[in-house]
Amino acid sequence: MTSPAPRLFPQISIMPDASSLDIANLPRHIAIIMDGNGRWARERGLPRVMGHKAGARTVQETVRTARELGIGALTLYAFSTENWQRPPQEVKTLMGLLKTYLQSELEKLLQQDIRLCCLGEMAKLPRDVRQVLGEVIDKTAGAQGMTLNLALSYGSRDELVRAMQRLASKCAAGEFDASAITEEMVSRQLDTAGQPDPDLIIRTGGEYRLSNFLLWQASYAEIYVTETMWPDFSREVFYEAIRNFQQRQRRFGRTGEQTPARLATT
Ligand code: IPE
Ligand code: IPE
Ligand code: MG
Repeated sequence: MTSPAPRLFPQISIMPDASSLDIANLPRHIAIIMDGNGRWARERGLPRVMGHKAGARTVQETVRTARELGIGALTLYAFSTENWQRPPQEVKTLMGLLKTYLQSELEKLLQQDIRLCCLGEMAKLPRDVRQVLGEVIDKTAGAQGMTLNLALSYGSRDELVRAMQRLASKCAAGEFDASAITEEMVSRQLDTAGQPDPDLIIRTGGEYRLSNFLLWQASYAEIYVTETMWPDFSREVFYEAIRNFQQRQRRFGRTGEQTPARLATT
């Protein structure tokens, strides 16, 4: 019997499906930088807003897929602290889409036992968005099937500054000495407090950068970049990212010999 020819492009496979995934070795926490809405629209001669509308549908499908797979936490980077600098009309459209998404998703989130959390400075969001966001967060607070973190007006540096300010206030109040601050104490001050660090960060749209996303939490995340623009991100591309993750050897600073071949999570 001849062995099959080695694949030239190991990241590309035909028709990946859930059966090709190792369900016992899934990432506990997946974070996605949902990029490429504008380019997707431009490629079709459409205004950028149409890309964002199409992207909102992809959010719904991706949440459902993650829940079906049994992923513990899914974080979606939806709006960065830097995105406030975009043209006011685009910001307004994005905020409107966010509100519509939250209003239409509440029932589905409850049905799927998904808890919604927000990373970022909610106080910077328009009042009406803040209200509906607060309502969905409250109503889904008891759900245990999956945590869905929406990163909104989120910047990792802003998150770290806020964490440092709180720790500094506690020091000044005499709660503890600065030399007693540990990594765990810093983690507990972040918007992701109590959640595991992301095991896998997926970025759509082909850029190899983090764009101020989870800089602390991403210390040992595996990163997967796909050229697929966010509105085209499908179940197949999602599975492919996870499959690729499952082929990585996560060494966490140790040698390969010290590490089990496929250690998906810590
Ligand atoms: C991601 O798509 C959505 C947000 C950042 C809000 P973009 O709007 O950044 O799309 P591109 O990168 O311009 O194609
Ligand atoms: C990152 O995308 C932020 C979100 C996906 C919300 P950007 O389009 O803002 O990132 P840059 O500007 O290309 O780094
Ligand atoms: Mg972009």
